[in-house]
This record gives sequence, structure tokens and C-alpha cells, in this order.
Amino acid sequence: MKVLIFRSRERAVVRAAGEIVQQLQARPASVLGLATGGTMDPVYAALIAAARDGQVAFDRATMFNLDEYVGVPPDHPRSYEHYMRTHFFDALNLPDRTWRLPRGDAPDPAAEAEAYEARIAEAGGIDLQLLGIGANGHIGFNEPSSSLSSRTRVKTLHRRTRDDNARFFGPDEVVPTTAITMGIATILDSRHALLLATGAAKAQAVAAMIEGPVSARCPASALQLHRHATVVLDEDAAQALELRDYYDTVHPDGEDGQMPAMRIPGLEPQA
Ligand code: F6R
Repeated sequence: MKVLIFRSRERAVVRAAGEIVQQLQARPASVLGLATGGTMDPVYAALIAAARDGQVAFDRATMFNLDEYVGVPPDHPRSYEHYMRTHFFDALNLPDRTWRLPRGDAPDPAAEAEAYEARIAEAGGIDLQLLGIGANGHIGFNEPSSSLSSRTRVKTLHRRTRDDNARFFGPDEVVPTTAITMGIATILDSRHALLLATGAAKAQAVAAMIEGPVSARCPASALQLHRHATVVLDEDAAQALELRDYYDTVHPDGEDGQMPAMRIPGLEPQA
């Protein structure tokens, strides 16, 4: 696991977005796994800026999102499909054939999950999987106690996750109780897993993921078993790491010689 700690959130975001840009520059027809959530907002803003600037194109890529709420139709403003459209796909006029999310309103969510897993396999598997982390250690919606060999399926959301995500819902709206999510084994099958975490609220989960035991208690800890995992952090998200000196010695200020020479208007890396 490569642990890159940056002194600012902006640098961490540029590093994560740059990884996606480099993947597509090397292989324009890559299969990408994508995530939603507050952490990803600036990543998509950066990718849109890079694409408009001609540094990268997404029209030959195939993109699979990690998850979708069960019972929420794609055009609902709280659906993850709506999030992806408004934060990314529509801004670049990406054709429908380039991206997929599980259908939250599928009549048989379990069958939808199985079909989604099959579609990922048909596409040749995921080259680069972008991930965030929940404060309880979830990746995708693989909540604590998820099987480390799980595949795409329906999961019940943890109370903490529903509370954390309530900020995206109106006061009279109920946060869904279940979601279709790629499984942990699905994520481990990706050829490169890239997890971005920013902010102090993620510090304990990040420490458990990197330095704790591999355990279903912290599903993200399964990334310790991934053959090519990169964890990109800002200072706040890294604050509970016990081996911090070691990570800084190996990659001072996150530098691993691969910091992209990307210029993102409005998101310049801070000195
Ligand atoms: C969303 C997803 C989740 C989020 C996680 C962090 O597609 O897979 O695992 O990455 O809940 O969410 P934020 O970034 O909102 O803190």
C-alpha cells in the first residue's frame, strides 16, 4: 500500500485526479470505477477542468460507479446517478454508453446487483478504482461486518452512514436504508485501487485501514491485501497514523516522483 500524505487538501485532490488523467492518457479506453460523496466533489471539478483544457478525454472510457441507493430512481435528486450527472457526466456531455450505475429502482435489486457484477467482468474488469472512505471504515457501501470476499449485492446501511449522509437530504426526506454496492472482492479485483481521504473526520478510519488488522470491522482494511493500492491523504486525515514518520520518509509531502504536471484552474496546488 502506497501512503501519500499531502500538506493540503488541494494537493491531495490534484494527486488523485492526476492519477485518473494519467491512466486515461496511457490507455484512453480504460475501465474506471468511480465514487460519489463530498470528498469527490473537487476531484470531479478537477477532472472537468482538465478535460476542458484538453489534457484528458473520457469518451473512450467505460465507467462503473460503486453504488446506488435502493428504491431511489435515477432521476431523483438524491440518487447517485443524479450526483454523477450533475458533478461530472453532463458537464462533459459524456454519452450514456460510457457510464453505468446500478439501477436503484430495479424491481429485483439482488438480480440487478448480480447483473452489474457481470457487466464489470464483461468490460474486462476495472483498471483504476477511485474510492472514498466512510467514518466507520466503509468503502463503497460495504459496512463493517461485510464479507471480505463479497461481490456486488444489496447491503443495509449502518446508522452512522445514514446519519453522515443525511446532510445530502432535506429535513423531510428519509435517508434510504439499503444500497446496491460493489463488494469488497469486486474492489480488490481492480488493477489499481486509489483511495482519497481528506479531513479530520476520517482520521480514525484511515488509521484503522492502513495500520489496523485486516478485518471486516474496518472494511477498508481489506485494501492491505490489494496488489496495487494508493492512499492519498491530507494532513487532517493522516493525523491518527502511528507510522507517520515512516510514510514521510518514504514520500515526503506525498512526493513519489509521479505528481502530475496538471494545472487545474481554480485549484492550484499550494506551496
Ligand atoms: C460513495 C461511496 C462511499 C463514500 C464514503 C465517503 O459512492 O462509495 O464509500 O466514498 O461514504 O463519503 P464522503 O466523501 O461524502 O465523506
